[in-house]
Amino acid sequence: MSVLEKISPADLIALEDKHGAHNYHPLPVVLNRGEGVYVWDVDGKKYYDFLSAYSAVNQGHCHPKIVGAMIEQAQTLTLTSRAFYNDKLGVYEKYVTNYFGFDKVLPMNTGAEAVETALKICRKWAYEKKGVAEKQAQIIVCENNFHGRTTTIISFSNDENARKNFGPFTDGFIKIPYDDIDALEKAITSSPNIAGFLVEPIQGEAGVYVPSEDYLAKAKALCATNNVLFIADEVQTGIARTGSLLAVCGNCTCEKSCEKQSSYVQPDILILGKAISGGAYPVSAVLANDAIMNVIKPGQHGSTFGGNPVAAAVAMAALDVVSDENLSQNARKLGKVFREELNAYIQTSSIATLVRGKGLLNAIVINDTEESDTAWNICMRLAENGLLAKPTHGNIIRFAPPLVMTEEQLRDCVSIIISTLKEFEK
Ligand SMILES: Cc1ncc(COP(=O)(O)O)c(C=O)c1O
Repeated sequence: MSVLEKISPADLIALEDKHGAHNYHPLPVVLNRGEGVYVWDVDGKKYYDFLSAYSAVNQGHCHPKIVGAMIEQAQTLTLTSRAFYNDKLGVYEKYVTNYFGFDKVLPMNTGAEAVETALKICRKWAYEKKGVAEKQAQIIVCENNFHGRTTTIISFSNDENARKNFGPFTDGFIKIPYDDIDALEKAITSSPNIAGFLVEPIQGEAGVYVPSEDYLAKAKALCATNNVLFIADEVQTGIARTGSLLAVCGNCTCEKSCEKQSSYVQPDILILGKAISGGAYPVSAVLANDAIMNVIKPGQHGSTFGGNPVAAAVAMAALDVVSDENLSQNARKLGKVFREELNAYIQTSSIATLVRGKGLLNAIVINDTEESDTAWNICMRLAENGLLAKPTHGNIIRFAPPLVMTEEQLRDCVSIIISTLKEFEK
């Protein structure tokens, strides 16, 4: 037994507290194992994972196909950098572009890097293809967005806690209300310098806000008419989470992204991360067609690890799992059950007022203020009762289990959630 295995949970928490930066506020559970929809803490207590590492572990913990691909590649070749070719990257690039229906991919590692990459591509396209005057490009974003943590990305956040004392910020962004097509039209037509519109198809971190049925299609049409790039950040919503391969796929549950369905809203730039690796490895991707992606030339963007052979092997295995195990269909079916059951409970509940979401990306709103700690206290009790979830705000709890869950497991989870909520009724 190693020295680490003997440390108590309280001491492990104390270690993080003393030696790690305090940039997170975790629930006090210390996990050391995961399999499928379950995780275990260091005392052997088993939990349903209802966060999936913020929608990264859609394929379930330690999926054998994904872990197998990772081990095999790690034993062969891990990193060449992009100074040389390797025998995995091109194969992956063909696979992923075919999977999502784009000409090209630019591989990165984290979601925030992929968002940064998309912003750079968009600006470059605006100057070199649209003819926007130097340094004048503007990108439209939405209020209450969450796109990551870099200095440029927080420049257009309206979360004051995420921004305070991190300035000066990056210029060139116009913020409009989410799900407001008139505001988008006004902003898009306000200037010839608008390069792109960056949007989450469902706002996850904000509290799982699903926009109106036709919002994305109308937004895309406005972008197309005005020669503005429609940039979809599907880092959280993508890869089957919302009951279709991408949230922009609308009502289709097939496991390939394509223009064949009437509900599909083709982004000009698609941003993916998290579950593209099944949570096994940091992998992100920016996809676009040649007319846009070809503005990037050698030396203008990159990453030492982006597109490394392990990432390529892991991502192909993770996407295979999504198709082989029909994860979109499962997320759609179980999402309906989840919302039906929670809605039925909410009719008579004094503690939960609303459930909303799509597929297996859902949230409940708690009958208290945003500043309250009620959602946190409920999550603490849920953990005691064997289910892990995390508030997005003082009064909102997100529920996002792995998509490999069975209906029986989901119904078990629903009964844990409802009985826990009942403990908080006045
Ligand atoms: C929509 C969206 N974009 C970007 C990010 C940033 O991803 P990462 O944490 O991998 O940088 C997130 C993370 O939650 C996200 O939800």
